[in-house]
Amino acid sequence: HGAYAEKIVLTADRLIDVEAGTEITQPMVIIEDGKFTWVGPQSAKSIPTDADKVLALPGYSLLPGLMDMHVHLTSDANVHGYRRLTRSTPRSAITGVKNAKATLLAGFTTVRNVGAPGYADVALRDAINEGDVLGPRMFVSGPSIGVTGGHCDNNLLPFEYAVTSEGVADGPWAVKTKVRQNIKYGADVIKFCATGGVLSKGTKVGAQQFTDTEMQALIAEAHLRGLTVAAHAHGTNGIKAAIKAGVDSIEHGSFLDAEAIDLAVKMGTYLSMDIYVTEYILGEGEKAGILEESLAKERTVGKRQRESFNQALKAGAKMVFGSDAGVYPHGNNAKQLSRMVKFGMTPMQTLQTATIEPARLLQKEHLIGSVTPGKLADILAVKGNVIEDISILENVDIIIKDGVIIQE
Ligand code: ARG
Repeated sequence: HGAYAEKIVLTADRLIDVEAGTEITQPMVIIEDGKFTWVGPQSAKSIPTDADKVLALPGYSLLPGLMDMHVHLTSDANVHGYRRLTRSTPRSAITGVKNAKATLLAGFTTVRNVGAPGYADVALRDAINEGDVLGPRMFVSGPSIGVTGGHCDNNLLPFEYAVTSEGVADGPWAVKTKVRQNIKYGADVIKFCATGGVLSKGTKVGAQQFTDTEMQALIAEAHLRGLTVAAHAHGTNGIKAAIKAGVDSIEHGSFLDAEAIDLAVKMGTYLSMDIYVTEYILGEGEKAGILEESLAKERTVGKRQRESFNQALKAGAKMVFGSDAGVYPHGNNAKQLSRMVKFGMTPMQTLQTATIEPARLLQKEHLIGSVTPGKLADILAVKGNVIEDISILENVDIIIKDGVIIQE
């Protein structure tokens, strides 16, 4: 861990106030014991003389630590298809150590890890929290829950090998049991598969998985226990069923129609749309071991997903930044920011989807998501104006997490 200073002062050209959707020019930020204690214009207060560290950053933008609501830190981007079968859970946990560091050094101070075999994500989260490993604050799901033969199952081997993913369950009580098991072993959130997917063998990306009744049972159980739920959902009917059943976020959201968007708006459901990853899958996927049938599915999904993104945006649906890093290399999360602007968002909206909106989705708005006195001191500094060019966040200069200087 980088140098630790108890009282840190930052000054810069601008601070992105994601709660107000405005900029504070010539700001000063004071951090004490891991939290923000003062935020305002430099003109309002002189630099404290008892500061342990003063970072004077003319020409820089300050912004909250970024948050990615859809990652798989225990997965590597060059291990797809049948290569996945060679990775044990302990091996994937070690992969996670490397990827956690890459993610934090990319300026992502918080992630939601949605799907990991063997609770490797729980182990990684705990190792980060206990200071053994350098990485982002993690909210983790444990194994994804899904139907037999669905996107959240492993369908690579024939029957006689008897390979089934840990999260497979059929029937309302069976899925409730999986929710309870994930909570027992440390999950913060629940992830399930509401439709087929791109990277799973033999699933129809547009087809619903789980009946409405199963989804209702699963989501009710998670909510009863105080956890939020994320649904992998590409196909229109599965998206609608998950939203109606009260899911908190739709992952991917590729085949939205007007009714699905309307439902999301009415129910306040977040959309977490990974609109960058298609570039990696179609460009590098074959080399990375992705099956031809998956590449074929991606060719139908990517373009449609970007149109859906733009339509949902125009309709005012709530959105969070979710990249699916792990399918593509960790540490490249920020590449999606410029794509979100390209497909219709303002830079300020894009930054909000990667900061305050995830804090709301995680129900942690009191702790994280903005540079506000009382919140945990997760803050980035980047040279230049992020509102004029959001892609400068692909190389963050200064990273502070929990008031600890990670990179300077
Ligand atoms: N994990 C997702 C799946 O297999 C990746 C989808 C990526 N494609 C996309 N256009 N977002 O379904």
